[in-house]
Amino acid sequence: MHNAINASQDRRPVSRTTLLRIARFARPHHRQLYRFLLLSVVTALLAVATPVLAGRVVDAIVRGREEGTVTWLALLIAVIAVAEAGLGLLTRRLSATLGEGLILDLRTAVFDHVQRMPVAFFTRTRTGALVSRLNNDVIGAQRAFSNTLSGVVSNLVTLLLTLAVMLSISWQITLLALVLLPVFVVPARRMGTRMATLQREAAHHNAAMGTQMTERFSAPGATLVKLFGRPADESAEFAARARRVRDIGIRTAMAQSTFITALTLVSALALALVYGLGGFYALRGSLDPGAVVALALLLTRLYAPLTALAGARVEVMSALVSFERVFEILDLRPLIAEKPDARRVPDGPVSVEFDRVSFGYPSADKVSLASLEDVAALDSRGGTQVLHDVSFRAEPGHMVALVGSSGAGKSTIAQLLPRLYDADSGSVRLNGVDVRDLAADSIRETLGMVTQDGHLFHESVRANLLLARPDATDDDIWDALRRSRLEGLVASLPDGLDTVVGERGYRLSGGERQRLTIARLLLARQRVVILDEATAHLDSTSEAAVQEALAEALEGRTAVVIAHRLSTVRAADLILVVEEGRVVERGTHTELLAAGGRYEELHRTQFERPDKEEAQPRRNY
Ligand SMILES: Nc1ncnc2c1ncn2[C@@H]1O[C@H](COP(=O)(O)OP(=O)(O)O)[C@@H](O)[C@H]1O
Ligand SMILES: [Mg+2]
Repeated sequence: MHNAINASQDRRPVSRTTLLRIARFARPHHRQLYRFLLLSVVTALLAVATPVLAGRVVDAIVRGREEGTVTWLALLIAVIAVAEAGLGLLTRRLSATLGEGLILDLRTAVFDHVQRMPVAFFTRTRTGALVSRLNNDVIGAQRAFSNTLSGVVSNLVTLLLTLAVMLSISWQITLLALVLLPVFVVPARRMGTRMATLQREAAHHNAAMGTQMTERFSAPGATLVKLFGRPADESAEFAARARRVRDIGIRTAMAQSTFITALTLVSALALALVYGLGGFYALRGSLDPGAVVALALLLTRLYAPLTALAGARVEVMSALVSFERVFEILDLRPLIAEKPDARRVPDGPVSVEFDRVSFGYPSADKVSLASLEDVAALDSRGGTQVLHDVSFRAEPGHMVALVGSSGAGKSTIAQLLPRLYDADSGSVRLNGVDVRDLAADSIRETLGMVTQDGHLFHESVRANLLLARPDATDDDIWDALRRSRLEGLVASLPDGLDTVVGERGYRLSGGERQRLTIARLLLARQRVVILDEATAHLDSTSEAAVQEALAEALEGRTAVVIAHRLSTVRAADLILVVEEGRVVERGTHTELLAAGGRYEELHRTQFERPDKEEAQPRRNY
């Protein structure tokens, strides 16, 4: 699935397939590309014309009495200068449009692709590493395209044209002037490969630093470091990586300057050669004085693109590495994908069915990328089986409750319903249709879920709620808030519905967060509701209040309810006792109590406690 197991230790040069793929990304922009190439050729032609005209001026001066010719030539040179300036701007605009357009495509493609990855991918991936791919590497790729690749093209055209004109004036002098060149071109190639390797390593370290920062500088991460962390070790590790990045930066910069200095020197020496040898030929009458001047001017224009090209090689190599790292992400095939002929959940009340479902969490190599997890090689061991042969059916409008010890597999069962994971064998069905045959948006419309942790986006209360139903009015929102007993709290927030909550926003307590996710559920009004310990974070007062709201939300809906407090599941139509991934008992509350098995045991231990309040029969979830 992935060809670069550990990018930082990989020494191979950038592959041909990468180049082909970049070309494929550029294809929609081919018209701009042709226009750009045409402009480059015209600009290069103009650049060559000026030295040739300057040579003519010198010849006219030498011949004497040709004021008219000199004036015309000078005017022509002026016109060309103006045209060159205008065309230069136009070319730059085209190349920028081209490069930025390509990056737009690349960036949106990566975002779209990553968004479609299954939850398993995100549970394995380090967020910092992923964000670094989307930022640093996409920007690196942009540099490759809008600056370097376009620079390479126009410099190459200029170089070839200049060479051609020089050869036509005097091939002997031209060849002699270029004799020193191979001394620099050969090491330049080797250097480019070495630079690409260093650049890969730098990107790897940058991503690792990004990961360290995003993990340690979040509120929960910082708390963890304060409580258990070793700040000195953290800083030392960070500093070691930062130092390596500095060293690589210095080496790259030095390599580039060494080339530029060397080429400038060679260019100066070659110029001396042209004046010396050309002057000698001119004195002997085998070359016009104007030709010597033209050659000298052309030579200075020859080494500029040459210098740029030698430097460009290094830059292009490192930029291509960025492309590679972006493609690596695009190559990850999501394990869970919508079928092309996906169906919708049939109308009407929905039944939920598990038919001999077995499941184990996928191993790392199936869902992730080593370089994103910051490990040398991915764990390929198959995950241990978490669910064994689970079967049950919730009739439309019925409520099925899952109880059992922590770690038994209850949340896992819940996650298979909205297809956060796919079963390994057996089938999960909504209204008789396997969820793998359903369209993702149809599942979203049908299923509502309150999870254990109740995550909120760093956005306003309104935005967090509208996620469930984008067309809800403020009245709908206030109604849902009132029913989840949050109206008073939200009304008292500094900006009401517009108060930003979530990671960096207003801190809600665990219970408040959970009530907000319940409000989201009330707002969305889906046909199937899954509650995964939805009231676990609530104290008994607010729990009693929210229970009423939930009872209302569940009215007439199919529900799968996971509860740790048994008092909450008495009213269920079917109770499943789950232990070690198996359904070990099933029946109604009365049946299970009478059977005297695991349920009866759980029930006894929970209600033998002195707080008799819990023993009151209550419709709880
Ligand atoms: N993302 C995951 N990757 C691998 N194993 C997991 C993951 N989530 C849960 N597990 C494992 O699956 C088992 C069942 O977990 P879970 O369904 O969360 O239990 P419950 O909700 O009943 O407390 C546990 O052994 C747990 O360690
Ligand atoms: Mg759980």
